Amino acid sequence: MRAQGCGLPALLLLLLRLLPLAPGPLPGRAGPGALSELRVRVRLPDGQVTEESLQADSGADCISLELRKVDGTLITLTADFRQEVKIFRALILGELERGQSQFQALCFVTRLHRNEIIPSESMAKLRQKNPKTVRQAEEVRGLEQLNTDVAVNFSKGAQLSPHIHNICSEAKEAIYTRVEDVKFWLEKGVDGSMFEVLPQSADLPDLQRCKLCLDRWKPCICSYSLSIEWYPCMLKYCKSRDASGKVSSYKCGIRSCQKGYRFDYYVPQKQLCLWDEET
Ligand SMILES: *[C@@H]1O[C@H](CO)[C@@H](O)[C@H](O)[C@H]1NC(C)=O
Repeated sequence: MRAQGCGLPALLLLLLRLLPLAPGPLPGRAGPGALSELRVRVRLPDGQVTEESLQADSGADCISLELRKVDGTLITLTADFRQEVKIFRALILGELERGQSQFQALCFVTRLHRNEIIPSESMAKLRQKNPKTVRQAEEVRGLEQLNTDVAVNFSKGAQLSPHIHNICSEAKEAIYTRVEDVKFWLEKGVDGSMFEVLPQSADLPDLQRCKLCLDRWKPCICSYSLSIEWYPCMLKYCKSRDASGKVSSYKCGIRSCQKGYRFDYYVPQKQLCLWDEET
């Protein structure tokens, strides 16, 4: 399978920062010049500024967006327009003093709707006049809560989207989706054997939110929240009038949005969900 442009290089950067430099070849860049990258500065809700990277590959018809939170977590959103799939990945730094490994990776896969994000060809054409400008989204979209109660088998996931293989390789045991998304994909002919429904509160009456669970070894429902701070969610159109007075419209910019997501999913042990504690 061809390695596609969306989502690869930044993971590499993270690994270079986190791990001692490993010998061996670096993954090659894919395909001809259809790849583009834009780096924008974005203000976070606490006032700090972070850099966001937006990549578009119009050949593969995908977009990838990546930002680092103040605590070091790397958030990636990949939109695969061809397969109507979007993939969120969080690489969460472990707290070494708590005996956690270097990072924990989570992947959430859900349906990509039309018009959620601008098309990849428009994204590939985005430029900014002043790269130092600190941006804030023009529109705040409401928090979306997703019950991601189905696990996706990593080795079979490429059928759903070829990007799962690249993006979720650190999260092989932690790829989640929702029943309603699975229904949509099954209707499109995707192989159902890659999905496994996880235990629900209805099956396990003791199943609590991890926040309320005191025993580190008990199963519970974990919550993970993330926010995409700035993304081009719509195209703006302007009107022009030619010499004869005929009006026509053309794409003249983008509207930017911010959107938060909360994923609720089953973990077999509360210790896999240590960020979800009372604050
Ligand atoms: C995922 O699918 C592969 C290939 O069919 C299989 O060998 C493996 O056991 C599956 N993994 C899980 C966790 O079910």
